[in-house]
Parts: sequence; C-alpha cells; structure tokens
Amino acid sequence: MKLLHLDTSALGANSVTRELSAAIVARWQAAVPGLTVDYRDLDANPLPHLTGPVLTGVDTAAKAEGDAIMDQFLATDVIVIGAPMYNFGVPSTLKAWIDRVAVAGKTFRYTENGPEGLATGKRMIVASGRGGVYGDSSPADFQEAYLRQVFGFLGVTDIEFVRAEGVAYSDQHRVDALKSAHASIAERVLEAA
Ligand SMILES: Cc1cc2nc3c(=O)[nH]c(=O)nc-3n(C[C@H](O)[C@H](O)[C@H](O)COP(=O)(O)O)c2cc1C
Repeated sequence: MKLLHLDTSALGANSVTRELSAAIVARWQAAVPGLTVDYRDLDANPLPHLTGPVLTGVDTAAKAEGDAIMDQFLATDVIVIGAPMYNFGVPSTLKAWIDRVAVAGKTFRYTENGPEGLATGKRMIVASGRGGVYGDSSPADFQEAYLRQVFGFLGVTDIEFVRAEGVAYSDQHRVDALKSAHASIAERVLEAA
C-alpha cells in the first residue's frame, strides 16, 4: 500500500497543518505494516505555475516533473495533505500541484453523460487549518469546498477533513482546536485505516 504525504504550509515549525498531517501519517504507518510513504514539502520544494510553456511541454524539465507527479498520484492509495486556508482558498503551491494531476484523459474525461473521474479507489485525508471559523458549509470557504470539488471531479470521493479552525482567535483557541483535531484523528482515521 502506498501513501503520498504533502505539506503546503509556509509557517514551518509553527504550522498547525504540518503537525496534524504528520500525526495522520503516523497513525497510518502504525495501522498498516509495510506502508510505503512518499513525502513532498511543496513549500520547500514547489512546482512552477502552470504557464503556457509548462502546459504545452515546451519547458521539457517542468513537463517531465509534471509527468512524474501524475504517475505518483495515480499509483498512490492514500493521500494525506496538510492544507491551510490562505485567502479563503488553498496555498498557491498546492494549486500548482493540483494543476499537474487534474489532466483530461488521465484523471478525468468527458463522456456523453458528462464528466467522469478516473482516479478512483483512493482515500484522502486533509489536515485543514484556518485562522477563522467557517464550519462545514460557509460560502466563504473556498479551501475545503474546493478540495472536495476538484478531487471529487477526479474520482477521489473518499475525502475526510481533520480540521483545526479559529486558531488565530487566541492562543487558547489554537490549543483547543489542535486538541480536538488530534482526538478526531485517533477516533476516525485509525478506525478507517
Ligand atoms: C498567507 C496567509 C493567508 C491566510 N488567509 C486566511 C484566510 O483567508 N482565512 C482564515 O481563516 N485564515 C487565514 N490564514 C490563517 C491560516 O489559515 C491559519 O493560520 C492556519 O493555521 C494556517 O495553517 P498552518 O498553521 O499549517 O500554516 C492565513 C494565513 C496566512 C499565512
């Protein structure tokens, strides 16, 4: 079994989502003997924007890297992403990675009956961090809602969110949000692994 672990926070050791994504991966490693874990820190090691030369393959190095990202995504069984809310959406480093795996003919296609996701059979767990409080269905949420939409479109419909929100309200909010998020990892993620 293969697990792909991505971190995207720009806050380094102070990151909520890095702490939570590491805890989620540790749970999976404990639950699944022989689990292969691939890790990429998209903050330290970002992909270039999907510009014309990258999209068309004129930039051959970026094209080759994009192809490798796609192969890694298609081969993985479980994806764990540390995804903070940045400006109501996801970090642009994560968007650049998504731009490499959302490719017509590879991970989705259009049919006479509409779009069809091709990257099926995967599980995804997102460690979500938010300074404010949005809950499950805020119209201001373009972070979790976007991730559910784009990966669902690709066929990844088994998505769980481990959320720490309101972390900017106060130190106590941050402590409480992390405590509750860690408890939910223990309850839900291990059970499903
Ligand atoms: C560049 C930047 C943009 C942010 N934008 C938002 C935002 O739009 N809404 C929000 O609630 N919090 C926002 N925050 C706060 C983060 O979502 C919050 O600090 C979260 O914990 C970040 O995850 P991290 O600790 O893993 O980096 C932003 C933080 C940064 C650094």
